[in-house]
Amino acid sequence: MNPTVKEYIEKNRERYVEELVSWLKIPSISTLSEHSGDVRDAAVWAENKLKEIGFPRVELIEGKGHPLVYAEWLEQENQPTILFYGHYDVQPVDPLGEWHQGPFDPYIDEGNVYARGATDDKGQVMVVLAALEAWAQIEGKLPVNVKVLLEGEEEAGGAFVEQFVHENGEQLKADGALICDTHMNSIEQPSLICGLRGILYTEIHVRGAASDLHSGSYGGVAPNPLHALCLLVSRLKGEDGRIDIPGIYISSVQVTEEERRFWESNREPLQRRLLKEMGVKELVGENHILPHKRLGIRPTLEVHGIRGGFTGEGAKTVIPAEALAKISIRLPAGLKPDDVFLRFEKAVQQKMPKGYSVEVRNLHGGAGVSVSPDNPYVEAAAAAVEQSYGIRPVFMREGGSIPIASLFHELLGVPVVLMGFGLPEDGAHGPNEKFSLSQLYNGIHTVADYLGRLQK
Ligand code: BES
Ligand code: MN
Ligand code: MN
Repeated sequence: MNPTVKEYIEKNRERYVEELVSWLKIPSISTLSEHSGDVRDAAVWAENKLKEIGFPRVELIEGKGHPLVYAEWLEQENQPTILFYGHYDVQPVDPLGEWHQGPFDPYIDEGNVYARGATDDKGQVMVVLAALEAWAQIEGKLPVNVKVLLEGEEEAGGAFVEQFVHENGEQLKADGALICDTHMNSIEQPSLICGLRGILYTEIHVRGAASDLHSGSYGGVAPNPLHALCLLVSRLKGEDGRIDIPGIYISSVQVTEEERRFWESNREPLQRRLLKEMGVKELVGENHILPHKRLGIRPTLEVHGIRGGFTGEGAKTVIPAEALAKISIRLPAGLKPDDVFLRFEKAVQQKMPKGYSVEVRNLHGGAGVSVSPDNPYVEAAAAAVEQSYGIRPVFMREGGSIPIASLFHELLGVPVVLMGFGLPEDGAHGPNEKFSLSQLYNGIHTVADYLGRLQK
């Protein structure tokens, strides 16, 4: 790689951390309306940073939700164009009591920066911004053409960006897309992500009697929506972890021999890591299937919450009239959330005990993605990771969802590189979320090297 770019990155390490910290201080929680001003401030922070880097075109794009930040620097005729996506919004912070320090009061401890959004995704966006800045400072331009699209409602379902990508395919046209919003297996065994699951997020509303009833006077003959929901949930997914929705196991994902070998060789370490991280003694569900496969391409159905009835102090003998469940399904790449929703709705109607009215709502969805390692943009990414980590990365999948990845892939027809610098122990979405500073620095070098490799 360009030695002066490398030097520049080394010289500026501390400033990168300072800048990241100033961004992390902005509580850009996209799902809470009282934070919408903060979400905008975080967008403006990114807008200013992109201007400072030297992007000739930088703008906030306003729409129905939080703004998008768009920038482009397209002065390199004969060079490919890279579209970079990231998100500047963050998850809510509860349970607040478990944080060692305020989630928006970042601090450094033992080589990590702690704050909400540190790894997901501000720290990883900072990696790319710093790499772009280094090239711009040393060469006065970027090695390739770059488009940047930052979103402020990824954690809230990303409705606006989805519409924007559908309507602005021409503006976003690129040769390759880069997303830094995933994890590496570990520092000792870096990885690139070759697939993510999709997601369908639903709500089920159940009604029984016209109003709450005395359980002595009516218990035995009355419908109980909470009990009915429990029956329904257990019929949708049994103790063996198997989901009973027709078509849910139809997957078109291609898995290479190399990836399968990694599933086998990494089985024990992954299992140990998962048990430790979760603080449990055994895994539940489909234990006859390798954990990498269970997390990367098997569908899963999770109940996030059930509301209804009486949960206050003491006892109250009441039969609730209504109940609600929040349920999501992770989808193997290839399944369309809206198609699955129709099948899910049908399964719910069939499995619901008799005597209730039930309504199923589709809150949001995003398709999964599967990337063939066999394309030049992914190959260059593997070479860049190998260059800075000294070890060839393995290709593996993660179970989380980044809906834009599939839109870029399917709609724009662009190969998507999922080059994440998070570590599994970063605790994304949880209390005391962190990002490793060595991952920040290694990441900047890797992305800077990657951009250089794409230059013709
Ligand atoms: N960065 C994550 C996605 C992710 C998580 C990728 C774990 C790889 C491993 C992203 O910010 C996220 O949290 N996505 C949501 C989906 C969204 C539609 C709410 C998710 O996966 O729950
Ligand atoms: Mn993310
Ligand atoms: Mn997230």
